Amino acid sequence: MSETRVIGVDVGGSGVKAALVDVERGELASDRPRLDTPQPATPERVADAVAQLVDRLGGAPTIGVTIPGVVRNGVVRTAANIDPSWIGTDARALFSKRLEAPCVVLNDADAAGLAEMRFGAGKGRSGVVILLTLGTGIGSALFVDGELVPNTELGHMEFKAQEAEHYAAASVRKAENLGWDRWGTRVGEYLAMLTVLFSPELIILGGGVSRKFDRFAKHVLAKVPSGTDVVPATLQNQAGIVGAAMITQKKSVAE
Ligand code: BGC
Repeated sequence: MSETRVIGVDVGGSGVKAALVDVERGELASDRPRLDTPQPATPERVADAVAQLVDRLGGAPTIGVTIPGVVRNGVVRTAANIDPSWIGTDARALFSKRLEAPCVVLNDADAAGLAEMRFGAGKGRSGVVILLTLGTGIGSALFVDGELVPNTELGHMEFKAQEAEHYAAASVRKAENLGWDRWGTRVGEYLAMLTVLFSPELIILGGGVSRKFDRFAKHVLAKVPSGTDVVPATLQNQAGIVGAAMITQKKSVAE
């Protein structure tokens, strides 16, 4: 394990999770306490939840935090699945003050993508790689020869006359009571559109459902043209935490 203590915090639409991370190995180095995302998920309430988790882990000199929205220079620019009062909030300043430690803040899917590219399903892959997190919404991370193009937000592209995440996020499967076959087909249709636009070598599917890839893989793959590999994320729902911790070591990537 590296000498420095590093904590990664993943703020999602439904849960806030944190852990100490071994950034050399891309592994959690503690248990992973979780709290439900406060509702409404305002900056102050989310910062309180993050502070509780960081306290439980004993603190760290630098902390990486993900937010499910566009983050530029520490400032949140969109808030589809968290309270709209995040828009324009300087999350880096907010968390740094609340946690009394310098914080680095980035988009949750970008964090997951960084972790998967370094330690998981994208390791060693060049060309265009897209990671999607299928959860409350759809997050995206786009890589070109291993370099992140931050804040791509491919889940908000219009698809079938609505936002793609309202058609194919994992939450939609439950909300609309779709079977794995119908939902997998929707995901496949969306991926087929992404292949037309980006010609990716690889698409990595993350989020909690990546554990259940076997249940929907064939329906997805039936829709995706050959030439693009589609695989489940291997760090599963730890990827955001690991990526958040990684970014504290390499500030230039997303900030
Ligand atoms: C947000 C993204 C986020 C994704 C997954 C989307 O609604 O706009 O920024 O990455 O949800 O949480």
